[in-house]
Amino acid sequence: MEKTLVLIKPDAFEAHHVGDIIKMYEGIGLRIAAMKLLQMDERLASIHYAEHIGRPYYEPLVSFMTSGPIVAMVLMGEDAIHRVRELHGKTNPAEAADGTIRKLYATDGRKNAVHASDSPESANREIHIFFNETEIYD
Ligand code: PPS
Repeated sequence: MEKTLVLIKPDAFEAHHVGDIIKMYEGIGLRIAAMKLLQMDERLASIHYAEHIGRPYYEPLVSFMTSGPIVAMVLMGEDAIHRVRELHGKTNPAEAADGTIRKLYATDGRKNAVHASDSPESANREIHIFFNETEIYD
């Protein structure tokens, strides 16, 4: 069973899409292993997005991600990392496939509703930024 970190971003929270998005994860057979509502601060964002520091989109990304509450989740299931990224669709919703979360709920490349880990290494790193082992029910 593979685990991945998902963030439901401030735009999706503000637009009341949290329930519909979680239903889509459960709908493809993934199980929630951990979940919390929180607001990122700049320090937490700089840890989570460390590999993007210095990129032109870094400041708008951090400003957006700290602008309101997010839902952080650990999802678990077979091939969870790849399947969640497929379900999310491309970063830019204009390029996302029909039926993906970003096609349904994202506005643009910044307000794009969801984040997910892109490899087993990043999943392990990102999960432990948001959760202690005692908060993960696997
Ligand atoms: S990369 O180089 O492939 O890793 O980049 P990408 O996955 O496309 O984007 C990395 C994260 O940066 C966010 N992003 C932006 N945020 C704000 N403004 C702009 N213009 C912008 N462009 C990209 C993008 O949503 C990714 O965030 P996460 O949370 O990882 O999905």
